This record gives sequence, structure tokens and C-alpha cells, in this order.
Amino acid sequence: MTPEQLAAQLRHPHGEAGARVAENMNASNQPIIANTYGTLALQDGDRVLEIGPGSAGHLPTLLARADGLDYTGLDLSADMVKTAQGLHKAQPKVRFVHGDITQAPLPENHYQAIVAINVVYFWQPLAPALNALWRHLAPGGQLCLGLRDRESMSTLPVFQHGFLTYEGPDLMQALATMGFVQLAMARHPEDSTSVLGQMMHKTGLVITGHKPESPS
Ligand SMILES: C[S@@+](CC[C@H](N)C(=O)[O-])C[C@H]1O[C@@H](n2cnc3c(N)ncnc32)[C@H](O)[C@@H]1O
Repeated sequence: MTPEQLAAQLRHPHGEAGARVAENMNASNQPIIANTYGTLALQDGDRVLEIGPGSAGHLPTLLARADGLDYTGLDLSADMVKTAQGLHKAQPKVRFVHGDITQAPLPENHYQAIVAINVVYFWQPLAPALNALWRHLAPGGQLCLGLRDRESMSTLPVFQHGFLTYEGPDLMQALATMGFVQLAMARHPEDSTSVLGQMMHKTGLVITGHKPESPS
């Protein structure tokens, strides 16, 4: 697979190659997924929306964080939605929906937490996606974005093909402009194997923000 083909699969996994890429992502993205899920402050029974979960290989670790969580996974890839549905059909209060975050058939002012890991790179332009996240979050709800920082992303040719990258403070500024408050960022250094099988030194970022209880 060329770097360009891999980039297209990361953006929209599909077919047999997409299934292999999804398995690889579940392994190579485990640290950033664990750090992002671990940052969510969840109460029993919260409604959680994940954007771009792929096959959601690590979903049990999220569901274990509180009792009775109600989880919706929204993904642009119909193949990923089908795979995730098959993998997690035994889980109560879990559903997967096909769609793009900017036009998602989902309720507004509804989710106590929204999480997206390794998806922000594909939101081009960024503002319509942030606007949609804001709409779907309940007042007081938490947004949590997991990503690799720009320097980490500059080390592999695959990320030269259509990925928008961030240093961290730039993404926080975009969230502040949208109206998110209580912004915070944590850096998580990691050594992991890339989707191409190479050892990589990366920095994961977990950026959180809240929609105010009473939006101004
Ligand atoms: C690089 S994969 C990340 C998968 C997983 N979150 C991880 O970190 O391993 C990006 C996923 O986001 C989905 N995606 C990309 N743009 C999206 C959008 N605008 N709305 C919903 N899902 C999107 C893709 O279909 C793909 O499954």
C-alpha cells in the first residue's frame, strides 16, 4: 500500500484493506486511545458520543469507566460501522451510526461527553465540525480530543497526504473561539509501532473543553 493509499484508508477505511488498517489502528493507537478515554470524567448513566471510532476495538475499556453508560459511535465509513456492530452486538446501550459529524442524524444538546481520537486531522475546514460537536453536546458537557502532535506526524510520509496537523495550543484556540471553556491539554510521550510497522517516538495530545452550562 502506498503512503497515499494508506492515508485514504485512515481517513475512510473500507474493503479488505480497510479491515486490516482498522486492526492495525486498534494496536498502534492503543496508547492515545487509553489516554483519551482515561481523561473523560464520566458519571454513571452518561450519554457518550464517539466520533470516528473505526471498529471501536477498545470500547470495553471505555464502558468500564462508569456504570450504565449509553454509547453512540458515529463513523463516516459504512464498513467500520458494520464491523463495530458485529464486534459489540452483545453490549447493552451501545449503537453505531453511519454519518459525517457535520451532518449527523443525532440529537442536539444531548451528550454529556463527546470524544474523537485521531479524527480531527480530517476536519477540513475545522470550524463546521467544532460547531457540530458544540450542537450535540449537552450544556455542561465535556469534549475530549485525542491526537498526535504536529512534530510526531511529520515523521511519516503517509501524513503528508491530506492530514491537518496541530501543535496543541492552536487547536485549543479554535475551541476557545467556538465558545468552549475550561480548556486543558495533556501531553503523553509514547513509543509505539506505526501502522507501517516502524518504531515511532510520538507525543499524544489530549485536549479537553466544556460547553458552558448556560451558553452566552
Ligand atoms: C484514523 S481513523 C481513527 C480510528 C480510531 N479512533 C483510532 O484512533 O484508532 C479515523 C476514523 O474517523 C472516521 N471519520 C473521518 N472523518 C469523519 C467525520 N467527518 N465524521 C465521522 N467519522 C469520521 C473514519 O471513517 C475512520 O474510521
